[in-house]
Amino acid sequence: MWLPCGCTSKYVASSFARRTLASYLHVSGRSRCNVAAFMPEAAGLEGVSGRAALRELSVSNSESFWAAVARHRLCWSTPFHTVQDCDLSRGKIKWFEGGKLNVSVNCLDRHVHTCPERVALIWERDERGWCCTDELLEMTCRLGNLLRRHGVKRGDCVTIYMPTCPLAVASMLACARIGAAHNVVFAGFSADALAERIRDAQSSTVITVNQGVRGGKVTELKKTVDTAMQSCPTVKQVFVAMRTDNPVTMTARDIAMEEVREQKEMLKEDVVCEPAVMNSEDVLFLLYTSGSTGKPKGLVHTQAGYLLYAALTHRYVFSYHDGDVFGCVADIGWITGHSYVVYGPLANGATTVLFESTPIYPDPGRYWDMVERLKINQFYGAPTAIRLLLKYGDQWVNKYDRSTLKTLGSVGEPINTEAWEWYHRVVGDGRCPVVDTWWQTETGGICIAPRPSDPDAEIVPGMAMRPFFGINPVLMDTEVIVFGFLQGEVLTSNNTSGALCMAQPWPGMARTIHNNHQRFIDTYFQPYPGYFFTGDGAYRSEEGYYQITGRLDDVINVSGHRIGTAEIEDVVNQCPAVAESAVVGYTHSIKGQGVYAFVVLKKGIDVQEADLSRQLNGMVSEKIAKYASPDFIQFAKRLPKTRSGKIMRRVLRKVVESDLEGLGDLSTLDDPAAVQEIIQGHEKLLSKNRS
Ligand code: WTA
Repeated sequence: MWLPCGCTSKYVASSFARRTLASYLHVSGRSRCNVAAFMPEAAGLEGVSGRAALRELSVSNSESFWAAVARHRLCWSTPFHTVQDCDLSRGKIKWFEGGKLNVSVNCLDRHVHTCPERVALIWERDERGWCCTDELLEMTCRLGNLLRRHGVKRGDCVTIYMPTCPLAVASMLACARIGAAHNVVFAGFSADALAERIRDAQSSTVITVNQGVRGGKVTELKKTVDTAMQSCPTVKQVFVAMRTDNPVTMTARDIAMEEVREQKEMLKEDVVCEPAVMNSEDVLFLLYTSGSTGKPKGLVHTQAGYLLYAALTHRYVFSYHDGDVFGCVADIGWITGHSYVVYGPLANGATTVLFESTPIYPDPGRYWDMVERLKINQFYGAPTAIRLLLKYGDQWVNKYDRSTLKTLGSVGEPINTEAWEWYHRVVGDGRCPVVDTWWQTETGGICIAPRPSDPDAEIVPGMAMRPFFGINPVLMDTEVIVFGFLQGEVLTSNNTSGALCMAQPWPGMARTIHNNHQRFIDTYFQPYPGYFFTGDGAYRSEEGYYQITGRLDDVINVSGHRIGTAEIEDVVNQCPAVAESAVVGYTHSIKGQGVYAFVVLKKGIDVQEADLSRQLNGMVSEKIAKYASPDFIQFAKRLPKTRSGKIMRRVLRKVVESDLEGLGDLSTLDDPAAVQEIIQGHEKLLSKNRS
């Protein structure tokens, strides 16, 4: 059982904690006890007789639900006075106002006091068998003091460009400790992409490492930061930790951070760092993600609501119990790493695994070897990796003891039935529930997943199925377009498909787009006034279960990494030979989706297509990241357009999927012959590729 009184008395209003505990102790009656055993924080709620009723109440009386859960699961230094103040039509979202807390205290101090022997982090380094644990609280405090001494203040934004390692987690928590926001940039992003995010976030401090190591390959992260710095004049300081022993050139701006070398900056610091007392709605972090325009959006998450939602979903979707070892193999550069490597598990006092390597390094048994060695109880990964491993065969799984596994999770993209079945049957020996979890950077945590539900409730392969507590999904008609925007009615029947929207706010949702609240409103709240629009389509089955059908906008998902087609087009169009381009996604057997670019050259350009393809691929890797680089580049004389000059992406998507039957109505095209040329070009490219 989880009790709320593990916090240091100095920091926590103890009477507050006792009050919540008392409400638990006074619960009586059989059905109440069931709910209390399942979710102690909900035990005091009136008239809840079982899980179904609890789920019902979390939506119909969401204030009572979230208030009870927030009081119980988080440690507050001052209790909140208002549970929520939200107006979806205006994109206004506020939770737990009046409440004060510190996220790092919630993730570290209180658990250090209740379970001092429990390990917080296990770092599974790229080098197999080299895992290690660290004193996370101590590291966080030293780092917090170091940042403070170098002038980082409450409200500042620190950019973290690091691989998945303990110091990266400590950097995130150190920011939280001193009240600074963090902006983690995935270490696979290029210098340009990093610079754009640093500038947009107005960061003056960056934390990085000398070099990264992944899949046995060394990446020059510090050098990438140096390049980015050329276009980031506001950055005053770059802290550099040592992941490898190779020295890197240091400039006047750089500060050597770790104890490894002679400048022992971190060791100079005290191991006690006074936590900043933060308001519930102060910014915790920015995380950039792709949208349908060329410019990534810095989504903003705040303190209490985000932490509570990450913690609650971690506890109940994965059925995490005290003492479990939680293995989420996502990189900390993505939201999954934030919510289910760092904040959710740590807020629950879990032992969380940091995975630095790849699923096939040094061989395709890597995940399961790690499961055996670290005795992982919940494993959370991406369908793209499962599809890849499936191809290598069962022997790589069967070699290892996976008896500790209790729940398997999938995230980031749809999981096809074959991959789901293999995950369930081979990896989980047919005995572990597989939870296909649907959510987004914007939602902060899992919104739709098969669990929690009754232990024997059915799980349908490849379906996210059931909304989480407090989540009220609706499907909207996508057919009606008014002034160029989707508009529609709520679809109430089952066995139907539509645009997936949320009819109610929940504490984990993003609060705004950094420096651009209007874009936040336009993207998420304007398409269906009064609702949060996810950008995804979904099908609701006869039984009322949800299945995600894919993006409705120009965002594609490559190996679970989101990328806007407009971002890639912007780069391709920078090539002097290119007149225009259109990028679409296509079904890829491992990556889920691949990148397919149509390119029209300027008149009179005479180049070898193969050379230009190489050049364009290089540009995309350099300006964005390797994963965004096109798998196919088709050169065309022209693109199919409407009479008003808009590229018909719908048609291009059908062509690359070889779904010529589905081309639909071409009568609005300016010149239907353009489609025939595109089809022929596509066939030529495919046959060239086959040979
Ligand atoms: C897609 C990742 C199908 C979806 C947590 C969403 C999924 C986008 C699933 C968010 C799933 C995520 N089934 N599609 N279980 N999970 N997606 O922001 O299109 O990187 O909108 O967050 O990934 O990607 P993001």
